[in-house]
Amino acid sequence: MDYAHEYAAAKALVEERLNGLFREKGLEEAMRYSLLAGGKRVRPVLALKFCQACGAPMEAALDFACAVELIHTYSLIHDDLPGMDNDDFRRGRPTNHRVFGESTAIIAGDALQSAAFGLIAEAGRNVAPGRLGAVTEAVRVLAEAAGERGMCLGQFRDTTVPESERNEAVLTDINRRKTGALIKAACLLGILGAKTVKDVPEGAWEAAEEYAENVGLAFQIEDDLLDVISTREALGKDIGSDSALGKVTYMTLLGEEGCRREIEKCTLRAVEALEKGPFSGEKAFLIELSSKLAQRNY
Ligand code: IPE
Ligand code: IPE
Ligand code: MG
Ligand code: MG
Ligand code: MG
Repeated sequence: MDYAHEYAAAKALVEERLNGLFREKGLEEAMRYSLLAGGKRVRPVLALKFCQACGAPMEAALDFACAVELIHTYSLIHDDLPGMDNDDFRRGRPTNHRVFGESTAIIAGDALQSAAFGLIAEAGRNVAPGRLGAVTEAVRVLAEAAGERGMCLGQFRDTTVPESERNEAVLTDINRRKTGALIKAACLLGILGAKTVKDVPEGAWEAAEEYAENVGLAFQIEDDLLDVISTREALGKDIGSDSALGKVTYMTLLGEEGCRREIEKCTLRAVEALEKGPFSGEKAFLIELSSKLAQRNY
């Protein structure tokens, strides 16, 4: 299978699983509205492919992969709120609060977060008792990535650190947390998914961490770049939000060329990490994904 078909096949598994969730009227409609609005599903695809790279079927990581997507979707709903980035358009449609109102949008995000951990716990019901440690570890990894040292801390710093204090080091810290943390969790949850059915190759964890850290940084730098040079039609979300908020981003500090150089450096480091890693099967796919991610072209 070529790269595009492989991506589509992994994404289709995710879409089918997500489509089975939240089918009630009311609050669940608001959750579904944002969840099934056509995200690129980068994080769950990464999880499924790392699971496969460890020699297990993608299905072994499917619920863990979807859990990351639920957390990511909640983070987007809250990120768009008037109290945060105040955006009107996301995933090709009006933002959640624009359609359902602010209070429902906040609650839909909250409920997506709870559901994410519920999904992991339920997946544990089908795991052999001797392998349940991988499920507990998945809860820990996701909680750490989403919470007060991960995505939430990144969002907190992104909205509270004064613009005058935003140098490259501060921005890198913010990006690592607000965006990198969930991307890294996705890759690690893929490995843990594999661990629910088999032992994984030594060194897989460390290689995935290094790959994901670099992919995560490149991804947010590209996001800052696209916020300036892309279009609402191409991205499916509002552009110009950063400058409307007077926000200092990588684009402000480094300009377009500087951003592209950073993205290239990170992507090279990500590829190196994979080359060194113990993976066999899906290495080529993951290498190609890292360079396509850097160009938002996948
Ligand atoms: C957007 O993430 C928010 C960031 C962390 C930069 P994505 O670009 O993955 O958004 P979707 O999931 O495809 O909508
Ligand atoms: C948000 O970063 C990252 C999270 C949602 C955690 P941005 O605010 O740059 O994301 P976009 O551009 O709105 O997607
Ligand atoms: Mg934001
Ligand atoms: Mg935003
Ligand atoms: Mg952005």
